[in-house]
Amino acid sequence: MTDSTEPSTGRSDKGAHRKAGQAKGEHTKTSKGRGGKGLHRRKFLGGMAGAAGLAAVAAAGTTFSLLTDAKGNKAGAATNSATLTIPDLLEGTTSDTTTTFTLEAKTGTSEVVSGVTSSTMGYNQSFLGPTMKWTKGNTALLNITNSLGADTTVHFHGAHVPAKMDGGPQVAFADGETWSPTFEVKDEAKTLWYHPHALGTTAEQAVHGLAGMIIVEDDSDASAALPSDYGVDDIPIILQCLASDTAGDVKYDLTGYLGSGLVYPVLCNGTNVDDTTLTFEATKTRTRFRILNASPSDIITVQRSDGGTMTQIASDQGYLASAADVTSIRLVAGARAEMVMDLSADVTLQAVITTGWVRGGSGTYDFLAVTASGTDTPDDLPSTLNTIDRYDTSDFTARTITLGQNGTTMLINGSAGTSMSSMAMISTTLGSKEIWTVTNSTQLEHSFHVHDVPFQLISINGVDPTGVELGWYDTYEVVGGGTIEIAMEFTDFADDTYMYMLHCHLLQHEDEGMMASLMVTES
Ligand code: C2O
Ligand code: CU
Repeated sequence: MTDSTEPSTGRSDKGAHRKAGQAKGEHTKTSKGRGGKGLHRRKFLGGMAGAAGLAAVAAAGTTFSLLTDAKGNKAGAATNSATLTIPDLLEGTTSDTTTTFTLEAKTGTSEVVSGVTSSTMGYNQSFLGPTMKWTKGNTALLNITNSLGADTTVHFHGAHVPAKMDGGPQVAFADGETWSPTFEVKDEAKTLWYHPHALGTTAEQAVHGLAGMIIVEDDSDASAALPSDYGVDDIPIILQCLASDTAGDVKYDLTGYLGSGLVYPVLCNGTNVDDTTLTFEATKTRTRFRILNASPSDIITVQRSDGGTMTQIASDQGYLASAADVTSIRLVAGARAEMVMDLSADVTLQAVITTGWVRGGSGTYDFLAVTASGTDTPDDLPSTLNTIDRYDTSDFTARTITLGQNGTTMLINGSAGTSMSSMAMISTTLGSKEIWTVTNSTQLEHSFHVHDVPFQLISINGVDPTGVELGWYDTYEVVGGGTIEIAMEFTDFADDTYMYMLHCHLLQHEDEGMMASLMVTES
């Protein structure tokens, strides 16, 4: 299947992008999804522009009446170059089948806006963190020390681990303490990430740099056939669009985002690409890219500057059934995808930024120039990468999840999850199979994320999924007024004390209450 989603900002010139980005309150209406659902969505949203839609906009108050003033858009412009930074691979120590990793969450400084020093945070370094490799079937043990001067947690986004080891708000640990979760790696090959998850401070800590990638390896035929030499032909790409004032103060909440004179720097692996195109020399013909949108709220669409195709091999939760040629990969906040390219000529990758929140970035950035210098001839990709048995949901338990808002308080099923006691609790039992109708009753964009187990998309705004939408996900876009149906099966882990979370991955919405708990108990 070909996914031919054209991002709303396209590949036109700078002026056009600016206008698109500055349209008042338009960000929810220009939202387009993965796959071919854009037309449907425009129609759908057109239908919402009546009383209900306007009431929702009015309820949001001033947040909708502000212009975005993103500076960035340098596609096609002459730029500087610098070499792509590959995050360090965190060497664990392995004895028997247990690998022990050591992380320290700490503060530092980094250049988030070019030429300006910002106060930042990182794991083992001053901004972002090293990449961890976990091996399916082995045990991971992490010793994570908090040197932030504030409580934190470390959540393993997308990992299927016990609730107590998942790093949700219940396992927050204080400055000076070390948290040591351990678990068997049950996930198959996929790209995960780790970031903080304490109540009310997730956005603040993540935007300051607390984020890193996790690569899960397995012994599947697909893994054996795909590039896997880290930093050589298996390349992590962590994209972030942040908000900062010109003095380098990185913003994370509504008050901060409503400040004047903000810039919206775009970073790739921690390097600002506003005026710089990073370079990477591909010494192998086939190169694999693992792309993470670690932005707090903005949507990032990756495409080639020449409009060519990329071969998508994985969604959030591992390999697709078969590789899919796509011209763009749209990632909402928190989402990942993997793709390979067989490079016979140089390729420039672009990030198209779309505001996901009240304000944010916009424009098209040439973030990576890949030089093709491989001379080898790769084997054909396997015709099948994964076996994905699509759920027959006829006997699944149905549940409704409503994403709502009351002014600037964000709600799930009517409750604001700003404290463990105030949030809605979804209770289920081990072995349950469920189909959730996730309805966005606001006009805002949301990025719906569930911990613990992957889900399949059953429908997207009433339309059957196709192409890459038939893969496994843990984070998916729910446009203003839209609805997705997702199905999952609660396997392996039950606990009557520790909970998983489900929430919007626009981190500000999460902090403003769009989070509920998910308790999976023994049946
Ligand atoms: Cu990436 Cu509950 O989070
Ligand atoms: Cu949201």
